[in-house]
Amino acid sequence: MLPTCLRIHLSQTSRHLRHALQCRYYAEQSSPGETQRIALVQGASRGLGLEFVKQLLDKPNQRVIATCRNPDGAADLQNMQSGSDGRLDIVQLDCTDEKSIANAASQVSHSHQHLDLLLNVAGILHVPGKMSPETALSRVNAQNLLWNFHINAMGPVLVSKEFAPLLAKAAQVSGASKDRPAVIANLSARVGSISDNELGGWYSYRASKSAQNQLSKCMAIEFARRKQNIAVVMLHPGTVDTDLSEPFQKNVKPEKLFSRQRAVDQLLGIIEGTTMEKSGSFIAWDGQSIPF
Ligand SMILES: NC(=O)c1ccc[n+]([C@@H]2O[C@H](COP(=O)([O-])OP(=O)(O)OC[C@H]3O[C@@H](n4cnc5c(N)ncnc54)[C@H](OP(=O)(O)O)[C@@H]3O)[C@@H](O)[C@H]2O)c1
Repeated sequence: MLPTCLRIHLSQTSRHLRHALQCRYYAEQSSPGETQRIALVQGASRGLGLEFVKQLLDKPNQRVIATCRNPDGAADLQNMQSGSDGRLDIVQLDCTDEKSIANAASQVSHSHQHLDLLLNVAGILHVPGKMSPETALSRVNAQNLLWNFHINAMGPVLVSKEFAPLLAKAAQVSGASKDRPAVIANLSARVGSISDNELGGWYSYRASKSAQNQLSKCMAIEFARRKQNIAVVMLHPGTVDTDLSEPFQKNVKPEKLFSRQRAVDQLLGIIEGTTMEKSGSFIAWDGQSIPF
């Protein structure tokens, strides 16, 4: 809790200034030798992204940067921020817009020295009234393909490109090592596995997640070759009760439909145990490796 005199002073300032002062206060308060862990959740307005923010904030000594397309409309994130004691920053980022990604990276690098974790969560499977996953070749079109590739495949690699310099700094600032590297965790999906594809359909979504996996694997190889302790993992959360899966849940057995809390708890466990040796892996919610 902030001291009363500081709280009174902060109540008389604007929301943005108040947040900046709180951030500085908490950075100065962390004990010597105890470096704060810093995570950035990309695509945090709702669904799994919002739950990642919540569970990360429950950890001691953890700061979180939550990015979303429209911070002013992200009421749940704003509520979390007001109860976060200055440990949550909200930054605008649209992963389909390179300028917006670069602006977000520049903003974060002014307020933070490093990053320990980058979670690329934003993704689409359908857009209500505009796009649904293809059940037949006759329904495939360029617009759907581009839409899925833009957000699901290009988003994570373009965001990783801009934030990689901050992840690289974790080696000096928070002691990232081979056994406990900085981590880029990209939300993939089992349906992106080509060797596991026995049902077909969902052309654009499947292919965009396969492409995301290939781009992630390239990053994993490059970081290892450069001897940078940044691991890249692709994660399948299982089928989770969110807006994304909602129209497709009727054939999912209740025990196979995870709550957001359970899914995120499981994935954070996997991220926590990630080493450089595991970098480049495609991993399911239960820790099993998924073939590409
Ligand atoms: N739910 C599942 O069963 C399941 C299964 C396998 C994999 N996944 C993967 O898990 C990830 C999260 O899915 P979810 O279920 O949490 O989905 P969700 O509830 O539909 O949330 C999707 C998130 O992506 C954001 N987003 C969409 N387009 C964006 C853009 N251009 N720039 C930035 N953010 C954007 C949305 O922001 P707005 O609020 O601004 O729209 C929202 O925060 C996805 O990558 C998905 O493919 C989910």
